[in-house]
Amino acid sequence: MKKHTEPKKYLISFDSHTSSHVFTDVLVIGSGVAGLSAAIQAAKHGSVLIVTKDKIDENNTAYAQGGIAVVLSEKDALIKHIKDTLNAGQELCDKAAVKTIVDEGPKRVREMIDWGAAFDRQNNHLIFTQEGGHSFPRIIRAQGDSTGKEVEHTLVRVVKESKNIKVVEHTFAIDLIIKDGACHGAVVWHAKKGIVLIWAKRTILATGGCGQVYRETTNPEVATGDGLAMAYRASAALQDMEFVQFHPTTLYIAGAVRFLITETVRGEGGILRNKLGERFMPNYHPQAELAPRDVVSQSILQEMQKTDHTNVYIDVRHIPKKRLYARFPKIKEICASFGIDIAKDLIPVRPSAHYMIGGIKVDRFSRTTIKQLYACGEAACTGMHGANRLGSNSLPEGLVTGYMAGTDACKSIQRSRRELLPYTIQESAGLSKKSWLDLTDIGNSLKSLMWRDAGIERDERHLLEAEEMIEMWCSYVMDKEFSHQTGWELQNMLIVSRLIVVSARKRKESRGVHHRTDYPKTDNTHWKKHIIIKKPTS
Ligand code: FAD
Ligand code: SIN
Repeated sequence: MKKHTEPKKYLISFDSHTSSHVFTDVLVIGSGVAGLSAAIQAAKHGSVLIVTKDKIDENNTAYAQGGIAVVLSEKDALIKHIKDTLNAGQELCDKAAVKTIVDEGPKRVREMIDWGAAFDRQNNHLIFTQEGGHSFPRIIRAQGDSTGKEVEHTLVRVVKESKNIKVVEHTFAIDLIIKDGACHGAVVWHAKKGIVLIWAKRTILATGGCGQVYRETTNPEVATGDGLAMAYRASAALQDMEFVQFHPTTLYIAGAVRFLITETVRGEGGILRNKLGERFMPNYHPQAELAPRDVVSQSILQEMQKTDHTNVYIDVRHIPKKRLYARFPKIKEICASFGIDIAKDLIPVRPSAHYMIGGIKVDRFSRTTIKQLYACGEAACTGMHGANRLGSNSLPEGLVTGYMAGTDACKSIQRSRRELLPYTIQESAGLSKKSWLDLTDIGNSLKSLMWRDAGIERDERHLLEAEEMIEMWCSYVMDKEFSHQTGWELQNMLIVSRLIVVSARKRKESRGVHHRTDYPKTDNTHWKKHIIIKKPTS
C-alpha cells in the first residue's frame, strides 16, 4: 500500500501583507440550523460574521422533512426521549450530551415558535407524529413535509433583524487560521475580493455533513465535509467517523436528485414492496416498516439483490388521497414532476447516505480540542447519537449545540476582555500549482468507490481496497494548490473519505449504522468505545 502522507496544515499559501482583512468578535462558518442559532446567541454580546458558501438557505437544514423530536406534549416525558435516544445509540451515546440536548430542546423550539415559526397544528394544538425508535409521538413538523424550510426561514429572519450580525453569502472557507495552538479565524475565498483573512476572537464551525462523498445521497451539493477536513488539517480531534447513517428511502429515478421520501411516510402507513410486489419488512423485523433505519436499509439491499432490481417501492395507495396529498405536499409535487401520482403509483426508492454521525469532537459547550474553536450541528460529534441516530433528533441537536456554542463563545470573550488578534501571518502551503487533473472524474470515481466499498455493508477487503485507492488519488491531488472551490472541495472530500474508511476498517464489529459483513456481531468487550482520529501536529 502507498504510504499515507498527512495533508498540509493549509490548502493554499497566503500572506497577511497582501490579503484583505476583516475583524469580528465571532466568526460563524455555515448558515444551517446550527450556524444561525449560534450567531443569534453570540450577537447578544458582540459582532458576528456569518460566511456561507452558497445562498444562506442552501443547506441540509432547508431540506429536512420529517420534523423535530421534542418533548412538548404534557403526556410525554424528557426521560422517555433520553431513553429512546440511548437505546438507538447502542451503548455509544454520551449520556450527558443526550440529557443536555433533550432537556434544552423544548426551550429552543418554544423560542422559535415565539419568533414566528409555524409548526403544523390542529385546533391550535401542535400535531405530534411518531417515528421509528421513538416510544411516543413527539415529532413536530411544518407544512406537512417541509419542516426544514420553516426552521431555516425563521432563523434567517431573526438573523437579518439583528444589527450585530453580518452575513456574507457565496464565500468559501478554505482553512482555519491556527497560531500558537489556538484558532484566530479563517482564510476564505470571496468571488470579488479573492483571498480574505477573517480574524475572529472565536470561530464556530457549523459546516454540516458530508453526504456528497457518496454517489447516492440525500444531501445537497454543499455537503462536502469542508469543516471536517479543515478541522482535521488544523489537528482537532474527530470522533466516530465510521458511523454514517443511510436513509432507507430516497426517490430512485435516473436523472433525478435523490429526493428524500421521509420516514413519516412509513409512519403514516406506507408499505415497502419489492419488485414482485411483495411486502417484505415483516420478514426482517417485528416493527416492519418502522424498524430502525439501519435494519430497513439492509433489508432493502437484500431484497434488491434477491429480486435483481435497482430499487424497491413504497406503496401509499391505500391511504385516502385527500389525506395523502395534504400530509405530503412536497413529495406529491416532486413525484408528479416525474409522472408519478403517489395516490395511484408505487414510488421507487432505495437507500442513500444521509447523515454523518461522527464529526469534530466537542464537549457539552460545543468546544473542540482547539482553543477558541467551536463546532456545532452535523459537523460536530457531541456523542448524542452514539452508533445510530433517531429520526428527527438532529434539528434539535443543531438548535441546542448552536445555542451552546454562541453562548460559550461570548462568555469566554468577556472573560478575556483585552484579547488582541495577531494579524500578521505568512504561510506557504508548499504545494505544486500545476494541475492537469480532471477533477470531476476523480470526484465521481471517489463517490462510486465510497458507495461500493464503504457503504451500508462493509468488509475488510473492500475497505482496504478503498483506502489504497484514496491514498493513490491523494498522492496527486493533495500536493496541488488550487485556486477554486471545486479543487478545495475535492481535497476535502478525499480527506473525509479517508477518515471514514480508516475508522470503518478499525472498528472490527457491527454496531448501529456500521455493518461489517465479516464481523456481523456487536463486540462489547473490545469495541464499546469511540474511535478518535487526529492529525499529528506538524
Ligand atoms: P447544514 O444545514 O447542512 O448547514 C451547513 C452550512 O455550512 C451550509 O450553509 C453550507 O453552505 C455551509 N458550508 C459548508 N462548507 C462551507 C465552507 N467551506 N465555507 C462556507 N460555508 C460552508 N434532521 C431532523 O432532525 N429532522 C428531519 O426531518 C430531517 N430531515 C432531513 C432531510 C434531508 C433531505 C436531509 C439531507 C437531512 C435531514 N435531517 C433531518 C438532518 C438535518 O437536516 C441536518 O443534520 C441538519 O440540518 C444539519 O444542520 P447544520 O446546521 O449542522 O448543517
Ligand atoms: C425523514 O424525514 O425521514 C428524515 C428525518 C431525519 O433524518 O431525522
